[in-house]
Order: sequence, then C-alpha cells, then structure tokens
Amino acid sequence: MLHAASADDEQTIEQLAAETDEKPETVTGAAFALAEAGLLDVTEEERSAVSLTEEGAEYAEDGLPEVRLYRAAVEAGAGDDAIEMGQAIGRSGLGGPLVNIALSNYARKGYGSIERGQITAEPDADPDADAEAVALAAIEAGEDVTDESVLDQLESRGLLERTESTRRSVTLTEAGITALMEGVEVAQTVGQLTPALLTTGEWRDVEFAEYNVAADAEETIGGSVHILRQTANRVKDVLVGMGFQEMQGPHADAEFWINDCLFMPQDHPARTHWDQFALSNPTEIHDLPGELLERVRDAHLHGVGESGEGYHSPWSEDVARGIDLRGHTTSLSMRYLSGYQTGELEPPQRFFSVEKVYRNDTLDSTHLLEFFQIEGWVMAEDLSVRDLMGTFTEFYEQFGITDLRFKPHYNPYTEPSFELFGHHPETGELIEIGNSGIFRAEVLEPLGVEADVMAWGLALERLLMLMYGFEDIRDVHGTLCDLDLLRNTEVLH
Ligand code: PHE
Repeated sequence: MLHAASADDEQTIEQLAAETDEKPETVTGAAFALAEAGLLDVTEEERSAVSLTEEGAEYAEDGLPEVRLYRAAVEAGAGDDAIEMGQAIGRSGLGGPLVNIALSNYARKGYGSIERGQITAEPDADPDADAEAVALAAIEAGEDVTDESVLDQLESRGLLERTESTRRSVTLTEAGITALMEGVEVAQTVGQLTPALLTTGEWRDVEFAEYNVAADAEETIGGSVHILRQTANRVKDVLVGMGFQEMQGPHADAEFWINDCLFMPQDHPARTHWDQFALSNPTEIHDLPGELLERVRDAHLHGVGESGEGYHSPWSEDVARGIDLRGHTTSLSMRYLSGYQTGELEPPQRFFSVEKVYRNDTLDSTHLLEFFQIEGWVMAEDLSVRDLMGTFTEFYEQFGITDLRFKPHYNPYTEPSFELFGHHPETGELIEIGNSGIFRAEVLEPLGVEADVMAWGLALERLLMLMYGFEDIRDVHGTLCDLDLLRNTEVLH
C-alpha cells in the first residue's frame, strides 16, 4: 500500500485494489492500519451512485419502448396521418408488457397521441434527444448524470437504483514518505491463530495482524419477525393485559355471521361482489343454528321491540348460507356473542382478535384486498360512548398515540357509531384508523344478549403507519415491501 500510494494524487481504494491486485476489503483494512500508524491519510466522501436495473439495462440496449414505438409509427406514416395502432406496434417489434409501457409513456413524452386505437407521431419530436434514453445510455457507459428530475423519473419507472456509498481515498503523509525513503520491510502477518501454529510453536515467531475495529465489516442480514407480526403480537399482549380473551374462527364464513347477524340488509351495497369475495366451492354452510336464524330473519323483517321496524325487504336463507371471505372479523364477535362458539357468556366479558379480513377494494396507498383487523368488544351493563373512548385512549397510549379524534359515523349494526382518526407523524394528515359503536337492539336481541355491548374494528396496518410514519401500506405488505424498513424497524412499544 505504501508503495502504491502517492503523496500528491489521491487514489481511491478501488484504484489501489486494482494496482496492488488485492481485494478492496484488504486494501481498506491496510489503509486504516497505515492511517493509524500516521503513514497515510484516508479521506471519506459520501456518494450516491446510480445503477441500471435489469429492465433499465435492457432498454439501454434495445431502446426505450416508447422510442421504439415512435420510430415505428414514423416509419409507418403516422407523422402525416393517424394510423392503426396495431400497425405501429407490429412494426416496432414490441410484445408483452412492453406494449403497455410504450403506450403509457408515449403521450407523456410528446411523441404523439393515442386515441381510439389510432396513433399519431409528432413530426417534431426528437427521439435522439429523449432525456431518459440519453441518461440510460450515459449510466450504462459509466458516465455521471446530474439531472435529478430525469434520475427520479427513471427510478420511478424502476429502471435505475440509487445506492449510497462511501468513497475512501488515500494519500501518503509526510511520515509515510519518510518511512518509504528509509525503506519498508514487508512482513507477513498472521490473521488467525491455527492449531498448527500452536502445536509447532511457530506462534512464538510470527507477527499477528492487529484487529481494526473501525474497518467496514460485511453486512449480514438474518431473518426476523415481520414488523406487522411483531405489532400484532404486541397488540395481543396489550389487550390481554387489559383483560381481553382471544377469539378464533373461520376466514371463510357464512354471510349469516358476517352480515345477517349484524342487521345488514341483504340488499346492502356492501353485500355485493363489489365489496366482498364469495367462495364458489363450497358455496354454502349448512349448519347454521336454526333458532338464531329465525330470530335474525324476524329482526330483518320486523325489527325488534314494540315499535320495531324491519327493512321491509326480502330476506332469504340461501343468501345467509352463502360463503364469503370475511370482510370484517365482526363475524367472530357474532359467533361468540350468540354463544355458538363457546357457549352462553355472562357479562362482564371482553373479547378480541387480530386477524385477516378480505375486501374487494381498489388498491392504493391505504387499501389492500386484505388487511389485519383488531376486533374487540366489551359486554357489560350500562356502557356508554365514554367507555369506548376511554378504552381506545388507553389502548392507543400503549403505542405512543395520544391524539385520537372521534367522528360520528353510521353502521347498520351500531348506534351510536363513530370512526377513529389519528395524525400521521410525517404528513400530519388525519387518517382513519378504526370504526366502532354500541351494538343496537336489532343485533343483540336475536343473539340473546341482554347487557350492553360496545365493539370496534381497528386496522392494524394503519396503527403501524402512525407508529412508524410510512405512507404506503404496500411498504409492509406484498412484493413491493420496503425491505430496509422491515429489516431495521424495531417494535419498541
Ligand atoms: N365491522 C366494522 C368495520 O369493519 C368495525 C366495527 C366492529 C364497528 C364492531 C362497530 C362495531 O369497519
């Protein structure tokens, strides 16, 4: 290293590694050791580097799909008049997902328009000056690209990755130069004490390398419990600590438990395939408790009590027997409250579950087709909304969330009802974290419950968002997970 380093020219670890034919780790270790001895100066510079993803490298080679489409469209005459899109696509040689990628970037970049199966090509567009293509080629060639907006665009298209790294450079110090002039002697140092060294007694004569605790070590990444699971476990602990028992039950259940017991009219929009997933095999559950079924039917048709009103709309047992993936775990609350799951329950009682639910939602940053719901209910005499608010305040405090907001709401099964909101720690936005209320008589009477029952469904993922500040639910679920977040976040509460 001393021989390879220079007093005037800064050299990077990579350059020195190439020159000395040693591994960069070895050179780094030597550089630190020599710096420690005052013979070298090591300077560090934080750098962000960009590299092409596989897809980016493919486009650097073959051209961006939209550029290929543009060239093909021009060749096919779309510069003069709109032509059939199929013609341009055929000529471009684009296939599979590349077609959609080309189409979704074509108009954005001003290459022309795509309308009703017709494509035009803007005669003045210059594909050779396409900023994204130029940047891809430059990165491929190892050149620097400084236009951040183009880099951002390429990153959001998944064509490049940014990595942060430390670049270390080395120069000889005065003392290093002196040492070199006096002559350095190369001594082999031993990095590890072996049985052979011990038995032969050679250990007495060799020189041992010193440990450099400041050197970068290779990062090893072990497995760990997913933060969603860690938080679910923490939620369970907290609720058990608050005197709750855990409910268990089927993910795919009769609509009876999911909807009918909850006084959801059978023609309620949330009971259509727009909202819920039905099973095609098996389609029905046969063993529904007969008497309860009758009482629930009666509540739907006529309501409960003297002045009760039902929905005056048809109610069919076939619909109630249909099997759906549960859209909420309130189905479990119905199973338990009715006594069906574990027998009659005398107040006071507290139950919870932290389980998956399934909804036919549109995917976005706060919605997935499945998520975890923190379900819970308390059965006792004379409960009020204050009891509910107090329970939430106590529960969320355990997770450091102390600024809950409540908003009146409507559920077919609770009255009063309210939604819960919390502030997102990064954006400050109020986000909905749960829904709750006090079960109405139309729910409780058929179930045979005489005491009051307050109940809720909270979203575990939203709790996580408030705890850790991430903004997209897909950071913790599915294939787009933020691995760094999963690896490095510890559940502290
Ligand atoms: N089932 C409701 C939901 O999924 C939550 C809830 C449960 C509300 C119990 C009130 C009572 O949004």
